[in-house]
Amino acid sequence: MELRRLTICMAFFVLAISYCSEAHSMHRRQAFDDENYDDPQLGDEAADDDALNDMTDMEQQEETKPPSIETNSTFYEVKAGENATLECKVNPENGTVVSWFKNNNQYFLGNIDMAENMERYSIVNGKNLRIRDTEIEDSAVFRCKTMHESASVYVEHTLLVLQKPIIRSTSATNGGNVAEGSDLVLTCNITASPVPSVVWSVSKRDQNRNLNEKDAEFHVNGTLYSVFIKNVKRENTGKYLCYAFNKVGQDQTEIDVVVTGKPQVHVPKTIVNSDLQIEAVLQCSAHEEARPEIRWYKDGVLIRENTAPYVINTEGSHSNLTVTPTVDTDFGTFTCEAANEYGTHNRSIELVQTPVIEDVDVDETKMAWTVHSHQPLKEMEVQLQSTNEDGDEFTKFIVPIPEGGHHKYEVSYMIDHNQLQPGDYLATVKVRNTKAWGSSREPAIVKIQDPQSLSIQTASVFRPNNAHSTRPVYTALSTILMYLLVRML
Ligand SMILES: *[C@@H]1O[C@H](CO)[C@@H](O)[C@H](O)[C@H]1NC(C)=O
Ligand SMILES: *[C@@H]1O[C@H](CO)[C@@H](O)[C@H](O)[C@H]1NC(C)=O
Ligand SMILES: *[C@@H]1O[C@H](CO)[C@@H](O)[C@H](O)[C@H]1NC(C)=O
Ligand SMILES: *[C@@H]1O[C@H](CO)[C@@H](O)[C@H](O)[C@H]1NC(C)=O
Ligand SMILES: *[C@@H]1O[C@H](CO)[C@@H](O)[C@H](O)[C@H]1NC(C)=O
Ligand SMILES: *[C@@H]1O[C@H](CO)[C@@H](O)[C@H](O)[C@H]1NC(C)=O
Ligand SMILES: *[C@@H]1O[C@H](CO)[C@@H](O)[C@H](O)[C@H]1NC(C)=O
Repeated sequence: MELRRLTICMAFFVLAISYCSEAHSMHRRQAFDDENYDDPQLGDEAADDDALNDMTDMEQQEETKPPSIETNSTFYEVKAGENATLECKVNPENGTVVSWFKNNNQYFLGNIDMAENMERYSIVNGKNLRIRDTEIEDSAVFRCKTMHESASVYVEHTLLVLQKPIIRSTSATNGGNVAEGSDLVLTCNITASPVPSVVWSVSKRDQNRNLNEKDAEFHVNGTLYSVFIKNVKRENTGKYLCYAFNKVGQDQTEIDVVVTGKPQVHVPKTIVNSDLQIEAVLQCSAHEEARPEIRWYKDGVLIRENTAPYVINTEGSHSNLTVTPTVDTDFGTFTCEAANEYGTHNRSIELVQTPVIEDVDVDETKMAWTVHSHQPLKEMEVQLQSTNEDGDEFTKFIVPIPEGGHHKYEVSYMIDHNQLQPGDYLATVKVRNTKAWGSSREPAIVKIQDPQSLSIQTASVFRPNNAHSTRPVYTALSTILMYLLVRML
């Protein structure tokens, strides 16, 4: 009996001791969990503590439930410049440490920042990530992850920072001044979020037109939006507009483009009548944007600025050469040449003493034209040549000299269609003044329609090649006499 009571007593004692030791161990474990568990700064101590107590793995899992995250994955949209707070609510709140990652780069461990340039990033309310004055570059996937050896969990948020398009800069090939035939690239550096749509257009003389794939190629490289126009023409000159928009707003910018080529010279009159001591103004112009240098030549020889009898007046791309001929050799071929870095172009003007016939106009059988002659007019005729195969003969009509013209004569004349067979005729006006004959440059077309009347009456018929040589000698003599008379008077 004595032995049995002793045994039971011993058993109770052992149980009591074992109970007390277990209770102590559990208490220590919980205290550690609450404050320090998984805190890497206390890692060594924790390991020591682990070594000190003799808990089994089974016991540890039973006692510490791994922390969980209550926040659901969220898509955050904020406008640039606003503050964003990304939530990470964990359970249990106390004693759980979380890490924040931005696109897989660790940003925070607890409150400790782990990356560069984190001025705008902070941890608020223990676990939430706050980004102050958001920028487009903050847009990313953010991950909040609990620190736990075996059962860490995480939540991922997406942050999209919205920004209306801002065109940061523009560029154009050679600053927008491009040579005809070269390639043009216009670029806008646009920051925007979400990615903007970009429309390119060009305005010329207040007409705005969107560019399409036929006009140009469009490229996007990062924030650079480009339009590429191959082999530019002068017509590509204009104001180019880069217009960017997204759901937050829009922005636009103009880029001036000037396509410069070889200058193109234009002369309003290619033949000018003048006389000795009569001032003649020869006009010449080139395209403004060509920025040409204009030079004049007389019979192929460069005219030095303002050497008698010449005065050159150049304003921009317009130039006037004023000539007051003093001798017959002052008449001749004057060439206006425009030159720029891309090349030269020229046009010539004849300065003559012969009559100049211009503006030949035909209305059925009524013809009209203008004669310029500072010298008195002597003879005037219209020659009509049939366009038929046997049309090498022509019909000549003598036109009366108009009275009273000073040096410009407006002439109108009705062709007597009775003298002509129906058909098409090339009409040339010829005028002789005291100096010589002049003729219209381009033949006008006269259509004779009446099929009934085809009587050749007073019209003279000549072979075209010897038309002038068959002119009676006395006419030439009288011309000379007349000229001498005029000169003497
Ligand atoms: C998180 O998502 C679950 C399932 O989709 C839903 O039941 C729960 O209400 C959500 N929690 C919050 C805080 O929105
Ligand atoms: C963002 O937070 C800062 C303080 O951190 C505050 O000064 C600022 O006004 C906030 N901005 C907005 C848009 O609320
Ligand atoms: C967490 O700790 C704070 C003080 O540190 C305390 O006021 C709070 O009651 C604790 N929360 C829980 C759920 O234990
Ligand atoms: C575009 O603009 C941004 C913002 O001004 C700048 O940081 C970036 O370097 C620019 N990109 C290029 C290629 O110029
Ligand atoms: C994009 O631009 C960068 C420089 O801003 C350049 O190095 C790269 O080659 C470009 N890529 C393409 C495809 O043009
Ligand atoms: C005008 O241009 C033609 C053709 O290009 C050239 O042959 C000629 O020499 C030029 N004349 C002058 C005066 O420059
Ligand atoms: C050239 O002459 C025309 C006609 O006389 C005149 O209208 C024009 O202004 C002149 N241009 C220059 C550059 O002198």
